[in-house]
Amino acid sequence: MAIRKPRGTQDFLPEQMINWHYIEQRMREICKVYGFNEIRTPAFEDTKLFLRGIGETTDVVQKEMYTFTTGDDGGSSFTLRPENTASAVRAYLENKVYGKEGLTKWYYMGPMFRHDKPQAGRYRQFHQFGAEVLGSQSPVVDSEVICMVVQLLKDFGLKDLNVEVNSVGCPTCRPVYREKLIEFFEPKKEQLCSDCQERLYKNPLRILDCKNETCKSLSVGAPEIHEHLCEECHDHFEELKTYLTAANVQYTLNPRLVRGLDYYTKTAFEVQYTPLGAQSAVAGGGRYDGLVEELDGPHTPAIGFAMGMERLLLALEKQNLLPEPTVEPSAFVVALGDVAKVEAFKICQALHDAYVTVEMDGQGKSMKAQLKYANKINAKYVIILGDDELARGEAIIRFMETSEQETVPLDTVSERITSLVKG
Ligand code: HAM
Repeated sequence: MAIRKPRGTQDFLPEQMINWHYIEQRMREICKVYGFNEIRTPAFEDTKLFLRGIGETTDVVQKEMYTFTTGDDGGSSFTLRPENTASAVRAYLENKVYGKEGLTKWYYMGPMFRHDKPQAGRYRQFHQFGAEVLGSQSPVVDSEVICMVVQLLKDFGLKDLNVEVNSVGCPTCRPVYREKLIEFFEPKKEQLCSDCQERLYKNPLRILDCKNETCKSLSVGAPEIHEHLCEECHDHFEELKTYLTAANVQYTLNPRLVRGLDYYTKTAFEVQYTPLGAQSAVAGGGRYDGLVEELDGPHTPAIGFAMGMERLLLALEKQNLLPEPTVEPSAFVVALGDVAKVEAFKICQALHDAYVTVEMDGQGKSMKAQLKYANKINAKYVIILGDDELARGEAIIRFMETSEQETVPLDTVSERITSLVKG
């Protein structure tokens, strides 16, 4: 049986890569405007990074990690990164970036790996575009990060985005809220799904965003975190809302938004695009003021987000918002016979030197088939090296759009094509 790609992974062929390049370019542009610089971290890390960083009770750590050991690393355990925030913090500490700059603004793009049940919009290898700001506790930064996400999505032409925000408190106020939730859910424990029964004492906040219908109905009337925020978290959240309003960002408050990773403190947010159906979260993020310390670094408040690139592409495709591919002017050299092929090769090299897109036949095709191929690849100019022309030291340039032809001396062909293409 032929070998196939692993379940939940995708091949992206050149037609699709055009769209990837389009979104990546716009992501880079917006990062530049907001002052973010790109980083790249390894696709796999020491498993301990994710256990400590993301949290041992999260679904990601408990069910979704691709973890492996190799014989020659003394039994060390590695994990394909399920997300990039923990890795960014690890890189921030390992490279002692905290000592070099006051505020660090990084972005990244790349593959992440989660062993989840594949479905439309959910993959086992997927790509995230994300950004992290390390070194500020100001809600101005939270709002700026949210504004950047919303602006990017809107600039792609997406409408009807739902920006949900919440505060998940901090180590001062969350334990009190946690107790309240346990008190609320304890009498209903037997009716909760098995996952939530486990979550009850480990991470009861997660019950609030369980997708199970029974758990959803059981959590109606549950205490809301807003009633339990400490003064600092309350003020931070109020300021965040003020800045979002000032920036004209429309948002909804979702007291059930708790996010699936343990490192969040204060601000949590998600951008939903409902036409995507079940996997409608295009981006999500929040503040993680304790993560740098959790990974043995100095106290460093931070905030960030990540966007699912496949989900963004699905949304753009659904709304017909992907640009028509543009055809760059290019050339094709038609040649038959050994002498003509050497001349064709020389012309191609000269044009490649000038960064003009050009190809010649490499499959022994007939003259007719070469012309057909030139048509297929949308060559704007076709250089024909026929026997008669070659004997006279000439070549024909055919303008494919108009079918007009001109004859030029062989040694000026590449200059002529270059000036036609480059203007
Ligand atoms: P996350 O919510 O786990 O957050 O993932 C962010 C986004 O990645 C999701 O909103 C979704 O668009 C996409 N995504 C997640 N899982 C999959 C999947 N299996 N298939 C396709 N797309 C997926 C984080 O990863 C945090 N690191 C975000 C963050 C950065 N928080 C602070 N800084």
